[in-house]
Amino acid sequence: MRTMFKVMALAASLSASVSTYAFAEDTVEVLHWWTSGGEAAAVGVLKDDLQKQGVSWQDMPVAGGGGEAANTALKARVTSGNPPTAAQLLGMAVNEWAEEGLLGDLTSVADQEGWDKVVPDAIKAFAVHDGKWQAVPVNIHRPNWLWINAKVFADNGLEPPKTWDEFNVVADKLKEKGIVPLAHGGQPWQDTTIFDDVVVGIGGPEFYKKAILELDESALNSDTMVKVFDQMRKIRGYVDPNFSGRDWNLATAMVIKGEAAMQLMGDWAKGEIVKAGAKPGTNILCVAAPGTEGTFLFNTDFFAMFPVGEDKVAGQHKLAASVMSPSFQEAFNLVKGSIPARTDVPGDKFDPCAQKSMADLKAAQASGTMMGSLAHGHAEPAAIQRAIFDVVTQHFNSDMSSKDAVAALINSVNSAK
Ligand code: GAL
Repeated sequence: MRTMFKVMALAASLSASVSTYAFAEDTVEVLHWWTSGGEAAAVGVLKDDLQKQGVSWQDMPVAGGGGEAANTALKARVTSGNPPTAAQLLGMAVNEWAEEGLLGDLTSVADQEGWDKVVPDAIKAFAVHDGKWQAVPVNIHRPNWLWINAKVFADNGLEPPKTWDEFNVVADKLKEKGIVPLAHGGQPWQDTTIFDDVVVGIGGPEFYKKAILELDESALNSDTMVKVFDQMRKIRGYVDPNFSGRDWNLATAMVIKGEAAMQLMGDWAKGEIVKAGAKPGTNILCVAAPGTEGTFLFNTDFFAMFPVGEDKVAGQHKLAASVMSPSFQEAFNLVKGSIPARTDVPGDKFDPCAQKSMADLKAAQASGTMMGSLAHGHAEPAAIQRAIFDVVTQHFNSDMSSKDAVAALINSVNSAK
């Protein structure tokens, strides 16, 4: 009788543990801003990957390119004591949340999977705090690209511009023919994506470093910065009348359809190009933004884990390990438009634009010209970033002179410090 009882008890406990194993899914609720066609396709890759490991994905999308709205939503969730399991963050936001002491420690996963050996130092600088991994990098995006409709250029006998002067010549020719030279969405982060390109393209990488990364007052208050705003004024003349407030992916669609000739945008635009069935490097050409060849501005999307209870940690760790696996990094970045955040993923399956990105990244790492993007949260803390956004956007949408813009820039930066 006793033995019988023991056998039954054992059987019951076995079946309980089997069913726990079979049915207890880890659930992760992930807050992110990947809502455009290409971005959503990339989220699909992540969702599927996790599902295979028994982790179910609860979607918390907050629309808005560049992530400002998502950051506001995240702050509201955390402040009200209801954080998501994980959130998409750009580098400076990782720093800010890590300083608050709110991010989960992923060091055990990182050690087990050897992240340290494969992630570039510039990215580790944002992910690792006090020796602890506090965020997992999904990708490396390059914001300083110029996307070109190849047919529009060929039909008009144009060559991709290599400098801002060449850009102006090409854009004037297109404008004369009644073609919109530049597809643009008038939103502060998009205006500043262009501003970053112009700062590097007119001033060079050393100037970007001084003015943007170091906020050196003599660089901010220089003739070069006046020229940067002169070029921004020129660019304002090359966008169509309906640019204001337009989402970035709609601007990309204009280039894909040939309704505009070019777009200055990060390589998430390539996600849209691929999704639309166009070929990057063939139908839509990719060249470094004018004057920025040799410089790799970068931004990385990280996932960071928030304190949602011990029972959720297993799911958080599975998400982190999954994101950094070489097979996921390949599959995801093929769709997203970026390149893997780990340097040991082969490039053979990637398109020519991504392959150029990989090669340019290596060269820029060697020459010290891999630098964080201001527009995409890898150069300055949010307050200073926003102070610069304000001036760039105000100048773009008014007839403010370049000299006044420089004075406003210095004022705005100083009061945000
Ligand atoms: C960037 C982000 C990219 C892309 C883009 C537009 O800041 O790093 O992943 O989504 O915004 O939304």
